[in-house]
Amino acid sequence: MKSELERIHREAVAGLEAASQEAEVEALRVRLLGRKGELTTIVRSLRDVDPSDRPAMGAYLNEVKTDVEQRIEAAFLALRVSARERQIASERVDVTIPGRRQVLGHLHPITQTIEEMIDIFVALGFEVATGPDVEDDYHNFTALNFPPDHPARDMQDTFFVDQDHLLRTHTSPVQIRVMENRQPPLRVIVPGATYRIDNDLTHAPMFHQIEGFMVDKRVTFGDLKGTLTLALQRLFGDDTRVRFRASFFPFTEPSAEVDIGCVICAGQSSTCRICRGTGWLEILGAGLIDPNVFEAVGYDSEALSGFAFGVGIERVAMLKYQINDIRLFAGNDIRFLRQF
Ligand code: DAH
Repeated sequence: MKSELERIHREAVAGLEAASQEAEVEALRVRLLGRKGELTTIVRSLRDVDPSDRPAMGAYLNEVKTDVEQRIEAAFLALRVSARERQIASERVDVTIPGRRQVLGHLHPITQTIEEMIDIFVALGFEVATGPDVEDDYHNFTALNFPPDHPARDMQDTFFVDQDHLLRTHTSPVQIRVMENRQPPLRVIVPGATYRIDNDLTHAPMFHQIEGFMVDKRVTFGDLKGTLTLALQRLFGDDTRVRFRASFFPFTEPSAEVDIGCVICAGQSSTCRICRGTGWLEILGAGLIDPNVFEAVGYDSEALSGFAFGVGIERVAMLKYQINDIRLFAGNDIRFLRQF
């Protein structure tokens, strides 16, 4: 029996050392200590041992059993620990690796220019209004005092949607929409998209304008000059020169075109390609609101006066950032847009 116990012990020790899976250890446990296990059944053989040797043999048996039990316990523990270590290693996160950088987007240069201009006029007490891109002929032309045969009404310039509807060719119709619904005093700016059948380096079929107007008693051309001079100097720099030239628009009388001193050569170069040596750049149209426009919205043109102006946003942005092709704004080339 002794040699049998020694064999079981030896095989148990070797088996446990070789085991690399918990399932193998469990199989060994069943084989040795289970209900029909080798160490469980060998107890019966004690009967055959000489009675005088029995206590010693019983003690030896217990010793082997205890040792095997402890080794099984230890084997389970070691396998669980190493499994846990493997899991930890596989789930390991290197917190010292630099994070993935998020690429931050930004506002389109046209949006930036619009927002900058809104800020300037809001500081002067103007509020922001908007109107529809698809307009009717009445608001885009008739109420603004365009005669029936005015060339701007020509299909060559205007995108018509149907007989009576078109994509607005300027933001001026929003003057009419605001005045139809509100009473003076008014100080309003209108940023928005505008559309004309046009396409070259400086004209795009869709572009943006900011309309502005003020209506009250005794608004003068001096108010217009002061407001626009201040706004243009905020936009292009405090020492920007501003010049008003007589002009014509159906909806203003008198009308003016407004120039700023050339942002490139400041009038110092007779060969400047931007101002063509004139030293001046046309930047917007303006004037005192024509009495016929007041009549169209039911205002008393004797008691009220007002000024209005319209600025092309792309033109402002092109001059500010020295961009020579208007189509870049709508081209969506990320290399262009990233520069702003
Ligand atoms: N609506 C004109 C255009 O698109 C710009 C303009 C000129 C607007 C004079 C005005 C103005 O309000 O008074 O060319």
